[in-house]
Amino acid sequence: MFKIISNKELAPNIFEMVVEHKRLSLKARAGHFVIVMPDESGERIPLTIADFDRQAGTITLVIMAIGTSTMKLVSLKSGSSLYALIGPLGVESEIENYGTVIMAAGGVGTAPVFPIARELHEKGNRVISIQGARTKELLFWTDKLAAVSDSHIITTDDGSEGRKGLVTEPLKELLEKEKDKIGCVYMIGPAVMMKFCSQVVIPYGVKSVASLNSIMIDGTGMCGGCRVKVGKETKFTCVDGPEFDASQIDWDILLSRQKMYCNEEKCSLNKYKNTHGTL
Ligand code: FES
Repeated sequence: MFKIISNKELAPNIFEMVVEHKRLSLKARAGHFVIVMPDESGERIPLTIADFDRQAGTITLVIMAIGTSTMKLVSLKSGSSLYALIGPLGVESEIENYGTVIMAAGGVGTAPVFPIARELHEKGNRVISIQGARTKELLFWTDKLAAVSDSHIITTDDGSEGRKGLVTEPLKELLEKEKDKIGCVYMIGPAVMMKFCSQVVIPYGVKSVASLNSIMIDGTGMCGGCRVKVGKETKFTCVDGPEFDASQIDWDILLSRQKMYCNEEKCSLNKYKNTHGTL
């Protein structure tokens, strides 16, 4: 059993959970994920390690409560325990000296962006982060991300905070202005956001990396739900990733696959809400 030190809502339906696990906190690196089970009969849920504190012996998970399993998970109170917690899993991020790196974070993608930005910053890179959300209320960890960035740009679709518009707009402007200085662009967020970020970067010939952690289902390499076409090869996000060359990902196949289990997910969520109510 793994003790939940704290569990708080950062933004509507987005929760930050700090869990005690000394060994995991010592081994965690940017890019890693864990699999959690809220209870014995629960589904396995793959989640990025969004932060870790080696001294305190804790890891931090950021959970968007959108389905039955994630709703079950966020309903666990501080002081209670997770039934299972396995990790670190996945291939860690390549932390190199790129010079200048742009970190494009969309929505809950801010959570996996944070540890990568921190390690790149510690390595001496100039980190420019662009953090986007639909509206002000959905922004979280803005100070935290700004603290590991040399410059931090906020965008909201409705203009309620920062620049009005999408992350792709400042991304294009930066590439236009500083193409020769930018060594890499990271993009993490909804698949459609990553697809359009990738399309913006390709003409400039800059290395681009997308993290596909959000498409994983069980994280075991067996369900096949995280299959992705990268160049001519088929990769499994939970085994070969979660990070891939964004310019080589077939985004259209990925987007169509994401809709595959929509009906089953809706049925399961309705059943859960009828028994347990909403959050
Ligand atoms: S998430 Fe099931 S095989 Fe990767």
